[in-house]
Amino acid sequence: MTIRTLYIAPGGGLDTVTLETTPAVDPGPGEITVRLRASSLNYHDLGVVSGAMGPTARRIPMSDGAGEVTAVGEGVREFAVGDHVVSTFFPDWLDGEPQAEGFARTPGDGIDGYAREQVTAPATWFTRAPRGWSHAEAATLTTAGLTAWRALFEDGGLRPGETVLVQGSGGVSVFALQFAKLAGARVIATSSGDEKLERLRALGADAGINYRSEPEWGLRVRALTDGRGVDHVVEVGGPDTLAQSMLATRVGGHIALIGVLTGVDSRLPLGLALGRQLRLQALIVGSRRQQQDMIRALEASDLRPVIDRHFPLEDLVAAFQHQAAGRHFGKIALDL
Ligand SMILES: NC(=O)c1ccc[n+]([C@@H]2O[C@H](COP(=O)([O-])OP(=O)(O)OC[C@H]3O[C@@H](n4cnc5c(N)ncnc54)[C@H](OP(=O)(O)O)[C@@H]3O)[C@@H](O)[C@H]2O)c1
Repeated sequence: MTIRTLYIAPGGGLDTVTLETTPAVDPGPGEITVRLRASSLNYHDLGVVSGAMGPTARRIPMSDGAGEVTAVGEGVREFAVGDHVVSTFFPDWLDGEPQAEGFARTPGDGIDGYAREQVTAPATWFTRAPRGWSHAEAATLTTAGLTAWRALFEDGGLRPGETVLVQGSGGVSVFALQFAKLAGARVIATSSGDEKLERLRALGADAGINYRSEPEWGLRVRALTDGRGVDHVVEVGGPDTLAQSMLATRVGGHIALIGVLTGVDSRLPLGLALGRQLRLQALIVGSRRQQQDMIRALEASDLRPVIDRHFPLEDLVAAFQHQAAGRHFGKIALDL
């Protein structure tokens, strides 16, 4: 049997994507074989594939992967043939404190990812997918879902009645909005477009601000919280949004430093951070145990990911062009 597999050249570049066939590999001890059915696009994947943060070697892209177990190796107790599973962002970070710097062991970046129809890998590289979810829905959890989950619940300790600020309508932010509402929080959302703000309101956002027509939105957010400021910010913008996020946050509030949509170099208003005793916590996704906790919570809820559009494997470049144009709302799925 051969497997359709996408590759990008060293350094990346959308024009270097090639579709090839590779041989199937049987699972060894402790391994499983997964018939991958879906992946989903993240800003990080766009960076790798477009070449903005291209890999040093030829690489199979995509960090997210979900599918069905088709074979289990000797000693695997956690999974059986037919189980639906979803990949983890850090295959070696099972539990406890963060263990690695950067993306050297992240599928689709430092090691081969999931833009392929089948993979054989250690069983611990996957968790069970939420019961009743499609593979495309499950694939959204590896990166975007777990990042939002960790920001709010693991690092933020979000409690009912608190206020969360989310930025834009991309994968992480829409998940953060959904998780915050699930936890009984109030949500203020920003977006580039009024139509997208309407959709964010329909998902439960209590207030929305167009950051294009109102670039100094920090004080508006304070006004919307009676001058107190929000308890948590899910910061995906970076340099161009961080100062406004700090203005918007209450004394002792928490800013989850997640995204770099406007760049990586920033001059921080440190006086504001000190004066307000802000908690700035940078994070990269989360551990396997955190993913399992999130999946348990999802199974106890009605929450379902928002999928903007599906693309087939061979149209990955078109899928990234759709993402780069900023036309999407929530997640973009890749069907394998
Ligand atoms: N640290 C981590 O673990 C982690 C994990 C996942 C993602 N990230 C990072 O988080 C960011 C978002 O990732 P994603 O995968 O969710 O991206 P995505 O799905 O491509 O979403 C991007 C969205 O962000 C919004 N946006 C763009 N510029 C903005 C700005 N100046 N202010 C507010 N919103 C803005 C836009 O929504 P509107 O059109 O509605 O404005 C855009 O559609 C990226 O920088 C990514 O690298 C980090």
